[in-house]
Order: sequence, then structure tokens, then C-alpha cells
Amino acid sequence: MAKGDVALVTGASGGMGQATVLRLLQDGFKVAGIDVNDKALKEFGKKVGKKANLYKVDQTNEAACRKIVKKIEKEMGPVSVLVNTIGWCGTTRFHEEDAAYWRKVIAINYDAVLYITHPVLLGMIKQNRGKILNVASDAGRIGTSGEAVYAGTKGAVIAFSKSLARENARYNVNVNCIAPGPTATPLLQAEIDENPDLIKRMVRLIPFRRVGQPEDMANAISFFCSKDSDYITGQVLSVSGGLTMV
Ligand SMILES: NC(=O)c1ccc[n+]([C@@H]2O[C@H](COP(=O)([O-])OP(=O)(O)OC[C@H]3O[C@@H](n4cnc5c(N)ncnc54)[C@H](O)[C@@H]3O)[C@@H](O)[C@H]2O)c1
Repeated sequence: MAKGDVALVTGASGGMGQATVLRLLQDGFKVAGIDVNDKALKEFGKKVGKKANLYKVDQTNEAACRKIVKKIEKEMGPVSVLVNTIGWCGTTRFHEEDAAYWRKVIAINYDAVLYITHPVLLGMIKQNRGKILNVASDAGRIGTSGEAVYAGTKGAVIAFSKSLARENARYNVNVNCIAPGPTATPLLQAEIDENPDLIKRMVRLIPFRRVGQPEDMANAISFFCSKDSDYITGQVLSVSGGLTMV
């Protein structure tokens, strides 16, 4: 991708989302960010000023996704890069949960990715180029206790990304995933609040003996959005300090 291309980041006011927006601006992209958290978006907006266009969108609403992509294309130009950092989960066991919780996890982690990817991909096919990077999780490859349904959605995101990579190489569209290890963001903090011992156990298992920072993820995301990744598609890269070596 070239300087001045438009990149769309979802989950833009979250931990990884903010780091990704800042990194892609630094890389020379025109950046649009969407998120449902109005308060966090406004706070982040104060930090980035007019450099990024931030929009409040509930990404679990398909019509809202189509509408915002049209608006961004009109205001900023065709979208050549899509980074999905949207995500959410709690830390309960499957046998303790109910269908309302499952629906929410599936809607945020999987449906929302489909809803935004479809209109963006149509534009990429027209341009005959594009890069899609989905933030998955190694939970989707090796499983994890306390996040069974979330792990299922991340496995779905990985399988979807690989299939999309196969379907769209003919249009010069690359589709890859990163799989972050535990990363210091509001999402991880919420899990630690629910289960304070979890983090100590995790850090002991990480060869680099620290959790990831959002910027560690943004560095890898930047690579997958750049020209340097032109010959890479359908891949999943763990960015986890060596926690998982798949
Ligand atoms: N933090 C970790 O330890 C970790 C580990 C592995 C994978 N991940 C994945 O990394 C990604 C980024 O997570 P994070 O840690 O930055 O979390 P985060 O909670 O800081 O950010 C996620 C963002 O998604 C947004 N979001 C949730 N529901 C939405 C909706 N309906 N519409 C629009 N936006 C919505 C939230 O408002 C939030 O800003 C997620 O996909 C997560 O599953 C995180």
C-alpha cells in the first residue's frame, strides 16, 4: 500500500485499535476509525485531533456497517486497508453461560467482522488491490479455558480469513490474521478484574516474561498493511512473546 491510501480500523477506541490508528497515521495512511464506545472515541479524538476520522458505529448492525463504509468512501476515498481489532469476551465457563451471552460473543467477534468486511471488500475488488488484517487470538487455534465460545469465534475468524485469502488473491487482496497473546488493554484489564490470579499464571508461561503492549500488536499490523507483506496471505502470526509457538 502507498502513502495516502485510506485505512479503516475497527475497535478504534480500544487498546489495540488506538495503537493501530496511531501507527497507521505514522505510516502515512489516511485513517478512519469506527467504534461503538462514544466516550472513548471522544477521548481518543482529543489525542489525534483531525488527523484521523473517527465515527461511532455499532458494528453488529449490518446496515450501519454498509452505511459507514459508503460515508468513508465518499469523504476520504476508496478503502484499501481494513484492520479489524473489534472484540469482546468475559471469562466464564461454558456450562455457566446462557444463549444470550453466546449470541453477544458471536455478534461482536464474528458477525461484526463479516458485516464490515463485505462492503469494504467490494470496494477492494473494484480497485483490484487491498489488505485485510483481522485480529484473531490463539484461543482460536489451541483453545483456552474460560473463553470457549470466544475461542470458537476466533477460530471462525481464522478460517474465514484463510478462505477469503484464497478467494481474493486474484484481486490482489491479501488477508491475514495476528493472534495476540495477553496484551495490556481494557479488555485484558476486565479479565484480570474478574480473575486476578490469571495474569500471574500467564506471565510465568510467556518466554519474554511480560504481557504484550498494544504497540507490539500495531508493529505487526503495520507490516501486514505494508508493501512488505505483498506475497503473504492466509497466514496467522502469533504476537505473544513466545507464549504459543504454533
Ligand atoms: N487484550 C488481549 O489480551 C487480547 C488477546 C488476544 C486477542 N485479543 C483481541 O484483540 C482485539 C483487540 O482487543 P483489545 O484488547 O484492544 O480490546 P478493547 O476492549 O480495548 O478494544 C475492543 C474495542 O471493540 C469495541 N467494540 C465492542 N463491541 C463493539 C460493537 N458492537 N461495535 C463497534 N465496536 C465495538 C470496543 O468498544 C473496544 O473499543 C480483539 O479482537 C480481541 O479479541 C486481545
